[in-house]
Amino acid sequence: MFALRRGLQQCARSLLPMEALACGSLQQSAAVTSGPAGAVYNVGKATNIKFHDGMVPRETKEELLGQKGVVLWFTGLSGSGKSTVACTLEHALAARGRMTVLLDGDNVRHGLNKNLGFSAQDREENIRRIGEVSKLFAESGVITLTSFISPYRKDRESVRARMANGDFVECYMRIPIEMCEQRDPKGLYKAARAGKIKGFTGIDDPYEEPLTAELVIDAKDESGNMQSAEDMAATIIAYLEQRGYLSAPAAPSDSEAATA
Ligand SMILES: Nc1ncnc2c1ncn2[C@@H]1O[C@H](COP(=O)(O)OP(=O)(O)O)[C@@H](O)[C@H]1O
Ligand SMILES: [Mg+2]
Repeated sequence: MFALRRGLQQCARSLLPMEALACGSLQQSAAVTSGPAGAVYNVGKATNIKFHDGMVPRETKEELLGQKGVVLWFTGLSGSGKSTVACTLEHALAARGRMTVLLDGDNVRHGLNKNLGFSAQDREENIRRIGEVSKLFAESGVITLTSFISPYRKDRESVRARMANGDFVECYMRIPIEMCEQRDPKGLYKAARAGKIKGFTGIDDPYEEPLTAELVIDAKDESGNMQSAEDMAATIIAYLEQRGYLSAPAAPSDSEAATA
């Protein structure tokens, strides 16, 4: 029932646009252009934007799903296994009855980001859009897996900065470039070495390693044995389990609820 109570609180809040403006994260760059009665805001290039609050709260959705929303952001070189491990992980989570979505590089470039290329500017916009979409999913209680090289630290950190603490889990596939190049599942390293692809990450475009990744996945385990994709997925599941992402949020105590 605490979710219902929170829902009512949220609806009450929607009557106070100035408060909504202060609470929401979307509105950081918004400017109020008229008084609160009919307040309209400028957001980026848009005008007349008014943030609508009071939807079904996140906690209700998380209760329905029996899990907590999170973004598991896979980053690493091409061929490091982002797609393979994310896919293995998604199946393992589904087998446990967990609701996921997997946003994968090439797939997203077929649709949402089909107008973007691989210049630094387009890569930045690619990641920004994925970040925003992931945020929407995570805030709806979905375990969101993203699989993008996302080579620039600044872009990944911008996504992290848009999310609440604990919502962004950076998962660095720390596989040496020699191994990625040897695997070369799509023949891209070969083409890049032959000069047929320009600006290829790791060859003639930089990959900036994460400095504070929550999860670092290495090719070998502590005993020096090669890890399978299943081993790697199991490590990530253990992390999610330990931190409570695989169960519904705890209901607040009565005293917490009274002061919320
Ligand atoms: N432990 C492992 N984890 C992930 N991929 C692995 C592993 N061992 C071998 N591979 C192979 O490496 C390749 C990784 O490719 P992919 O998942 O498409 O990488 P990325 O999405 O990072 O570009 C696949 O061909 C996969 O079968
Ligand atoms: Mg991939």
